[in-house]
Amino acid sequence: MEIHREDPSVVRRYASHLADLPGEALTAVSQREGARILRLAPQGGVPIDVLDLSTLSTTGTFKDCVACVSTARAARGGHRVAAAQSSGNTANALAAYAPRAGLRLVALHPPASRGRVLPHLAHHPAVTFVEVDAPEDEIKRLLREATAAADVPALPPLRDQIDANSLRAHYLYDAMDALGDRWHWHVQALSSAYGPFGFYHGWQAATNGSHGSSAAPPRFLGVQQEAVAPYAEALGAAPAPDSRPMLEPTLFRRTLTPDLADRMRRLCRQTHGTVRRLPNDRYLHWEPRAIRLLEQVGIPLTRDPDGTPRERAGLYSLAGTLEAVTTGLIPEGQRVLVVYTGGSGPAADTYTPHHSVTADQAPALLKRLLTA
Ligand SMILES: Cc1ncc(COP(=O)(O)O)c(C=O)c1O
Repeated sequence: MEIHREDPSVVRRYASHLADLPGEALTAVSQREGARILRLAPQGGVPIDVLDLSTLSTTGTFKDCVACVSTARAARGGHRVAAAQSSGNTANALAAYAPRAGLRLVALHPPASRGRVLPHLAHHPAVTFVEVDAPEDEIKRLLREATAAADVPALPPLRDQIDANSLRAHYLYDAMDALGDRWHWHVQALSSAYGPFGFYHGWQAATNGSHGSSAAPPRFLGVQQEAVAPYAEALGAAPAPDSRPMLEPTLFRRTLTPDLADRMRRLCRQTHGTVRRLPNDRYLHWEPRAIRLLEQVGIPLTRDPDGTPRERAGLYSLAGTLEAVTTGLIPEGQRVLVVYTGGSGPAADTYTPHHSVTADQAPALLKRLLTA
């Protein structure tokens, strides 16, 4: 059952909280960045609500908020060209928003993300996607070097990720007031963890600022897939054997800067939270139930032609919650908010890359694309 909704845009509704970015700049770029809260059937005595950041947004993930803020800020800074690297969703979102902001976009992605790319966005005349056959760190390095040489911004910088994700804290704070409930836990699937960092940053602002009162933040539970769990390891989990397959290419960040690891340790200390690695067999055990629970409340999953979920990032937070209820990490009676970050976006045909290059070929191509 849907219990709360902000539609069409959390960004427009809470734009006044972004001090240096006038509301008009955001409104000019904003499309649909809505959110809603749905109440699931309780599981093991634990009431579970889902924050759906997928079905009411332009490209189907929470990255639309990020792209909206980031392209608006880049355009306001006088830029006309921007670049990005992404496992797919951020690139889709930027491709939807950059043309509206008057920006030309060059987006790099690894071959594993090809199935995530939405062809109708990637083929916009102001957008060029480049598939780079290289590991994540190498793609990041190529982007850093090419953008520095061409004096072009790499979107979204950390600040835009934090700002955009902070807006949902203001939304949740208002929803909490309206519903008369609070959540004891906030659960999200992690790659770089900018979503939760931004949310908790916004929570602090919401509770100290215009809302007047203060409220303890919900405990944070981060969920990582078995094969890629650097935050869980930074908090003490043993490394997984190399043989474990990656089930979700979107959740791909393998290496953390010391700053990110410290931020997560601090966040977990402050909220009495933790990050857990969800073994593949446990994820697959919960997947059918997670899909059923979401479909029961009207969140349809986007599937590939063979019936498998097109993307599992959003499902991971619900599967991780079901695991945490079963193991007793989340005790009976504690209310949980599961963040459904994506997974119900538009179904799309297969995308054929504009450019497919090796790491050696990338610098010359990027130079040409960024300076054209
Ligand atoms: C749908 C979805 N969920 C979760 C994540 C992880 O987000 P973060 O990088 O903020 O940890 C991503 C990142 O690309 C995503 O696209």
